[in-house]
Amino acid sequence: MPGFELFGDAERKQVNDVLESGVLMRYGFEGMRNGHWKAVELEKALADRMQVKHAQVLSSGTSALTVALASAGVGAGDEVIMPTFTFVASFESILALGAVPVLVDVDDTMTLDPVAVENAITEKTKVIMPVHMCGSMADLKALKHICNQHNLLLLEDACQAIGGTFEGKPLGSYGDLGCFSFDYVKTITCGEGGAVITNNEKYKSNADHYSDHGHDHLGTDRGAETHPFLGYNYRISELNAAVGVAQLARLDEFLAIQKKNYLILREALEGIDEVMFRRVPEGGVESYAFLNFFLPDETTAKKAHKALVDDGVDGCFYWYDNNWHYYRKWEHLINLKSLGKLPQDIYNQLPDYSKSDFSKSDHWVGRNISCLIKLGWTKVEVKIRAQKIAGSIRSAI
Ligand SMILES: Cc1ncc(COP(=O)(O)O)c(C=O)c1O
Repeated sequence: MPGFELFGDAERKQVNDVLESGVLMRYGFEGMRNGHWKAVELEKALADRMQVKHAQVLSSGTSALTVALASAGVGAGDEVIMPTFTFVASFESILALGAVPVLVDVDDTMTLDPVAVENAITEKTKVIMPVHMCGSMADLKALKHICNQHNLLLLEDACQAIGGTFEGKPLGSYGDLGCFSFDYVKTITCGEGGAVITNNEKYKSNADHYSDHGHDHLGTDRGAETHPFLGYNYRISELNAAVGVAQLARLDEFLAIQKKNYLILREALEGIDEVMFRRVPEGGVESYAFLNFFLPDETTAKKAHKALVDDGVDGCFYWYDNNWHYYRKWEHLINLKSLGKLPQDIYNQLPDYSKSDFSKSDHWVGRNISCLIKLGWTKVEVKIRAQKIAGSIRSAI
């Protein structure tokens, strides 16, 4: 998903604007900044591109998740439903607020299984947080329905699927809140950065204040601003935001390249009967950041992954054995290994994940291979890669 592959003059020009003014901070210093407000510009462009009223850009995708939860009033003891297959940032952001991550199974979409979600709801549940992993999305229609029935918030983690859509809406804009990451390996990058999008004015102003120590951002004297509530510092710098302005302008260009490369790889695997592609929920259009498929069983998937590595094909992942993306290796969460003591609600409420049955997730993730789609490949390179991948898979069946 790497925007860094096509990093160039447009990004340099934006960064130079900031360097020339010398104002590296997103708030204040109006007289010195030569009219450059890169974070604000990025927020306007992102809200526009994502067809929402508001965007708040932040220091990372993890910050975005934390700020999104906080801005909606999530706090100690609230339960947030999240998938077993995601990135550790999902539970980190929940734990950061003293809230409780409730893990539930994924299905053949590789995202939250709506039936498992419904079964996990308690009177403490406040949020359902689907994670649109590897370029495709959760069944947002089903999840929205559950949210409406139980009066819960829908927070989409679209960090790995920017540019995908569901029922014609950009991913991230379907729920109450949506989050993006612009870290170095995402479809578009700021180096480090992230964003929350929403149509809710209160969440937006909460996010704006919370991510800057609770500053109310009224008036022109920063020291005289009041603090409506406690906050932290999750601000993005103008330098990072400047890179994002240039990258966002190129998002559709990047998505078109991703799709073209994805389709070439997919076509090469379509003739293999044992390959089953990941299910994209009805109404969804992928961002094409990854090509995801299942093999008949775990043994074959492991064999295929080894064949891909041995054949020198990079960027094809077997998430089942990955330390960061799948619950099986999250012993730091399971054993609550933290530097200092965590809030008591977490000790009291965290389910005993060493005893959980996630066999449904194991069934799907254990059979899955995910191939990263890069932007810099030439047509010839993608075709050679497609043949190599098909050959490695065939050799494992
Ligand atoms: C699904 C998902 N959510 C959140 C994040 C966190 O983003 P960041 O690295 O910008 O903190 C990532 C990063 O890899 C991710 O993949």
